[in-house]
Amino acid sequence: MNLKTRLEKHRAHLDRHLARLLPPEDAEPRTLHRAMRYSVLVGGKRFRPILCLETAAALGQQTPKLRGLEDLAGALEFIHTYSLIHDDLPALDNDDLRRGQPTCHKKFGEAIALLAGDALLTLAFEILARLRLPDARRRAQIIQELATAAGTRGGMLAGQVADLEAVGRKVSAQQIEAIHRAKTGALIRACVRCGALFAGARGPTLKHLSEYGEKLGLAFQIVDDLLDVRSSSERLGKPTGLDAARHKGTYPGVHGLEESEKIAAELVEEACSALKFLGEDGHVLQALARHLLSRTT
Ligand code: IPE
Ligand code: IPE
Ligand code: MG
Ligand code: MG
Ligand code: MG
Repeated sequence: MNLKTRLEKHRAHLDRHLARLLPPEDAEPRTLHRAMRYSVLVGGKRFRPILCLETAAALGQQTPKLRGLEDLAGALEFIHTYSLIHDDLPALDNDDLRRGQPTCHKKFGEAIALLAGDALLTLAFEILARLRLPDARRRAQIIQELATAAGTRGGMLAGQVADLEAVGRKVSAQQIEAIHRAKTGALIRACVRCGALFAGARGPTLKHLSEYGEKLGLAFQIVDDLLDVRSSSERLGKPTGLDAARHKGTYPGVHGLEESEKIAAELVEEACSALKFLGEDGHVLQALARHLLSRTT
């Protein structure tokens, strides 16, 4: 099966599972449940849950047999979607378009958007707490992993704060790398690690996969910055050209377009090298990493 077909299959499967994991629209508080379902189900590449599923698959865990793994993947997408809803709020990036549709606050108002983000984050941890795993210590490890990745010590929230505080300032190469590693890289790395932890990985296996996730996570945000310059909002489903207009810290801003592209490509190759220990079993994860460089959405 080629990568495109494989990704489409994952997406269809994940979309059905996400719809099942979310509270129904007719349950109270209806407005909030509608907003949560809207932001999650409106679209998205599902890159993070797919990364988790494919990491587990590379280690021999096949999805259809593992209900718990799908729940874990769903929780990852909820954490990610929460971060998008809050990232788009007027107090942060103030964006009107997300996943090709009006942002949550445009559709439901700021208060409900704030609460929908909170609710998705809370729901994610509720799902994680009842994750079906033979070993309870593994479940605790996964919860800790994601709380840290989304948190304030080198995690997503630390990155979001640094991103906001960098607006209008001159940002060094070191600073932009730290921002991107935290705001986006930490969660992506955690998606790989949680897939690996679910599959029972430890020691060098976990170490190599963490390196893969870390490089990939940084490359992902560099490509996001590049797409803001190069793509169109019709294609991307979110506004473009605004990073520069708003004096945001970005890789193209610090390194220029060509150099940023080169750095992303190098990171992807380094990520792929970290998977050598998997032999053929690492091919899908490598293809996924390379696919990132040519993504248009
Ligand atoms: C966008 O993430 C936000 C970043 C951290 C760069 P994605 O590009 O994965 O967005 P969706 O989930 O496909 O909408
Ligand atoms: C967002 O980075 C990182 C998050 C933690 C959500 P951006 O602000 O560049 O993401 P987009 O471009 O709005 O998706
Ligand atoms: Mg932002
Ligand atoms: Mg943004
Ligand atoms: Mg961006």
